[in-house]
Amino acid sequence: MNDLDTLLAQARDEFSAARQPAELENAKARYLGKAGRVTDLLKALSTLSLEEKKTRGAAINALKGAIEEALQARRSELAEVELQAQLQAEALDVTLPGRHRPVGGLHPVSRAMERIEAIFASMGFDVADGPEIETDWMSFTALNNPENHPARSMQDTFYVDMQDAGGRWLNLRPHTSPMQVRYARAHAERHAGADPMPEIRVIAPGRTYRVDSDATHSPMFHQCEGLWIGENISFKDLKVVFTDFLRRFFEDDGIQTRFRPSYFPFTEPSAEVDMMFSSGPSKGKWLEVAGSGQVHPNVVRNFGLDPERHIGFAFGMGPDRLAMLRYGVNDLRLFFEGDLRFLGQFR
Ligand code: DAH
Repeated sequence: MNDLDTLLAQARDEFSAARQPAELENAKARYLGKAGRVTDLLKALSTLSLEEKKTRGAAINALKGAIEEALQARRSELAEVELQAQLQAEALDVTLPGRHRPVGGLHPVSRAMERIEAIFASMGFDVADGPEIETDWMSFTALNNPENHPARSMQDTFYVDMQDAGGRWLNLRPHTSPMQVRYARAHAERHAGADPMPEIRVIAPGRTYRVDSDATHSPMFHQCEGLWIGENISFKDLKVVFTDFLRRFFEDDGIQTRFRPSYFPFTEPSAEVDMMFSSGPSKGKWLEVAGSGQVHPNVVRNFGLDPERHIGFAFGMGPDRLAMLRYGVNDLRLFFEGDLRFLGQFR
């Protein structure tokens, strides 16, 4: 191998060793640049005879051509490598989930509430809202549940160590029943002197609180109170209204109801409302869904009305429980944990 062949082999090795275009251009300069080795060879030609110049010159030119060819080949290789790397880096992964704006939905209990409100509104009921921090008087006394009466311990109430401006002790309302009193008193005042007084027909859904926590009880839960007071509203009307409500709420016209005698201080007679589906997993089982009764004369008096003239029924139900039955949920706590994997299923 002559010196030119050796030089060509060296150039090829250096070009192959170059990993970056810049490295390759540096290697090129070492051979073909102004002070490069091929340039040096050409300069050295001047010391040769004319004859030698011809053969040596032609050989050096051939070498130069071969080196340029090797350079070009390596340039293309490196460009290809770079292109592949870039394609890799910018690759579009079509298996990734698309970007989207997440769509929110109503909480299942809110949905149940909206259904309850819509059904009762269609029967001419007003929808009322009231305070969650209530007075002792509204929560109990006005509802015929006197101080120190054992019926007060039917609920484990959260008491608040504060009094309102009138010196009445406060609590987190353990039921929505005080809304009967608030609404009826405002109604009686608004229609004072009207004869006959327009009927009271109202539901009052909202948050309620008790010292209670397990799979079917939460310290914060929901209730919906109902009240219909007129001059001739009886237990018969309660049965019709509540049964119709349940059939519409659950979209099951075969639902049966049973009014089981019970005790509440604010009603006489009192009943628990049980219902039974005509189909589905709990078919044939009586399920307790509400408390109810004819409003007690003492409570009507606290409405500011004459119980000899104004009578009617009241009920209190749990929208959380209705939502559990409607959606087949067996643990109440799931509703209040805020886990979107659960809540997202109710859109
Ligand atoms: N307030 C009762 C409770 O929380 C439920 C209830 C029973 C409400 C009978 C009523 C009623 O209006 O008439 O257990």
